[in-house]
Amino acid sequence: MERQSKVTIIGAGNVGATVGYSLAMHGTCHRLVLVDRDEDRAKGKALDMSQAAAAARSHTIVKAAESYEDIQNSEVVVITAGSPRLPGMTRDDLLMTNAEITKEVILKVKEYAPKAIVIMVSNPLDTMTYVALKVGNYPRNQVLGMAGILDSARMAHFIYEKLGFGAGQIRATTMGGHGDYMVPLQRYSTVAGIPLTDLLKPDDIKEIVERTKQGGAEIVGYLKTGSAYYAPAKSTALMINAILKDSKQIYPCAVYLEGEYGYNDMVNGVPVTLGKNGAEDVIEISLNHCEREQFRKSIDSVRVLIDVLKEKDFL
Ligand code: NAI
Ligand code: 2OP
Repeated sequence: MERQSKVTIIGAGNVGATVGYSLAMHGTCHRLVLVDRDEDRAKGKALDMSQAAAAARSHTIVKAAESYEDIQNSEVVVITAGSPRLPGMTRDDLLMTNAEITKEVILKVKEYAPKAIVIMVSNPLDTMTYVALKVGNYPRNQVLGMAGILDSARMAHFIYEKLGFGAGQIRATTMGGHGDYMVPLQRYSTVAGIPLTDLLKPDDIKEIVERTKQGGAEIVGYLKTGSAYYAPAKSTALMINAILKDSKQIYPCAVYLEGEYGYNDMVNGVPVTLGKNGAEDVIEISLNHCEREQFRKSIDSVRVLIDVLKEKDFL
């Protein structure tokens, strides 16, 4: 009998529901479970998505979880549960709130779907990936954070806007954390195989790099009450697809570093080979002095947040 692939999404908000919709429309998995602390939200979205799947003649069965028992045997669990920054909340308050949510959720995932590959999406992304890994006591291959695919897609879009041609042929590469210190890599970005540096002037590339770093904030500025979800959801769906299909595709993902690039006990975005075991390989690309320095700053910015959690005895 054919393997029945199962994916769970915890947090059926904007990103989670859009990931689910993408999976259901493409028939990426056989069974899809939505979990949300607002149970009616999960039920309503699951029903709506099931009806969309019927319209699309997709075989994906979508259900809202009645309890965490329903996530059993999931191959992939995506965590998009989180709180946005609310009025009067400091960054540290948000950090603690989302760390508490991640802890609550990951303990349930560990209990009911201990073999699932976990994809973290909640922010601050690199730190929440670290929290999930430590709280769940996972091997490093089993927990990944989604950000690098999104940041690279944003960079690719901004390259297109600057060039005015090459849509669909642009391969942009970013690494580092999902924040102001991310590291867009112009040397590893191409259009139809042509290095970006042969196509654009340094000032244009600089503008693209800065806009990429602010890509999330630019969208929040327009939406006002929430953040981006179409590109984040598509990026997450690509990771799920690579894991379920065991395709060994290389994507930039947030992973726990064990000596790579000279860092230990830290999560940051680096190129990773994705397969049925999650992060199967961490690839070390060569970085010049300037890129290494930018990566160090990115690592330091995540370390500050992890240290706050340690000072508060959360970790
Ligand atoms: P949202 O507010 O639309 O959805 C969050 C959902 O999580 C809500 O439905 C809420 O009820 C649920 N939730 C909260 N606590 C829960 C718990 N303990 N158990 C189960 N469900 C719970 O937010 P949105 O836009 O979907 O974003 C989700 C997270 O993803 C945020 O932290 C956001 O900052 C982050 N994000 C990260 C990106 C990345 O590149 N890594 C990109 C976009 C968003
Ligand atoms: C983004 O980059 C808010 O992390 C989210 O859109």
